[in-house]
Amino acid sequence: MVHDLDQLKTDLLGSIDAAAGLDALEVLRVHALGKAGAITGLLKTLGGMSPEERQTEGPRIHALREAVTEALARRKAVLERKAMDAKLASETLDMTLPADGIAPGSVHPVSQVMDELAEIFADLGFAVATGPEIETQWYNFSALNMPETHPARAMHDTFYLQAAEGEEAHVLRTHTSPVQIRAMHAAGGQQPVRIIAPGRTYRSDSDATHTPMFHQVEGLVIDKGITLGHLKWTLETFLKAFFERDDIVLRLRPSYFPFTEPSAEVDVGYSLVNGKRVIGGSEGWMEVLGSGMVHRTVIEAGGYDPNEWQGFAFGCGIDRLAMLKYGMDDLRAFFDGDVRWLRHYGFSALDVPTLSGGVGA
Ligand code: DAH
Repeated sequence: MVHDLDQLKTDLLGSIDAAAGLDALEVLRVHALGKAGAITGLLKTLGGMSPEERQTEGPRIHALREAVTEALARRKAVLERKAMDAKLASETLDMTLPADGIAPGSVHPVSQVMDELAEIFADLGFAVATGPEIETQWYNFSALNMPETHPARAMHDTFYLQAAEGEEAHVLRTHTSPVQIRAMHAAGGQQPVRIIAPGRTYRSDSDATHTPMFHQVEGLVIDKGITLGHLKWTLETFLKAFFERDDIVLRLRPSYFPFTEPSAEVDVGYSLVNGKRVIGGSEGWMEVLGSGMVHRTVIEAGGYDPNEWQGFAFGCGIDRLAMLKYGMDDLRAFFDGDVRWLRHYGFSALDVPTLSGGVGA
């Protein structure tokens, strides 16, 4: 018996180390440890032994099983590594092959317009800020001077998420305005803020001009001595650069937003060319954005002293900007993912907007 066990161990370990492939190794495993395997057979004999015999043989058989299990695992790792190396060596990709017949993808007009906005506002000293799409009610509403009882909360057709036990429900942000508060917090109440915040927003609404998910860009300036004049100049400069026309005329209409005082809705003038509306001139007006001087309460919620700091803000639908500039008329098509639409309205990846080259060139 003593001799048999030692011999069995030498044989098994020898053939495991010599196993040429994973299949051969599996055959050896079954041979040793499978239901009818050699070691399994030895373990079964323990039941028929006298207690003394079992005391000496038991540990030896178990040690053998352990040694074989370990050897199998070691060899398996080596063989797997070898198989992976062989696979990597055989599956090389020739990057120099021409990509003939592969149609390149295109940049979605919304992405293109976001890049254009970042380019235009970077030139005016604005950084790009972001915030989460799943937002707390405090950031989305309360901090923006919309307390719980405020009717504007109901007007937003908000998507509420299931609340965790004992917590207030989060919302899918209904606008990019909560990034105003986040940007002010990030600046720490002492530094001026100059940001735009483009991103996704959500409202339970759907027709030719509304989709449940849409895009907005928020603008915020916080500094000392900021006036409505700064707001008007900034918007004019932005819209002229965006539509690439000098004859852009703005009309500011008094309006109401809880987070600004005074508030203004901004219309941009259009002309009729062969019966089609073209931005520029003042034959008619199209509403493009909401804006105003940041409300004292909002400045305070952002951690700034409203007696020292003022600011202006604006919010604008990006999808609508894209539609006006590039002539699409159904918003829903933006999110259908139809490759024919994407090929027609999409932009080349190399068509990077620059101010010198024309942001929409
Ligand atoms: N958050 C507003 C909306 O979604 C848009 C807006 C209006 C943003 C005025 C502003 C603002 O920053 O000053 O309808």
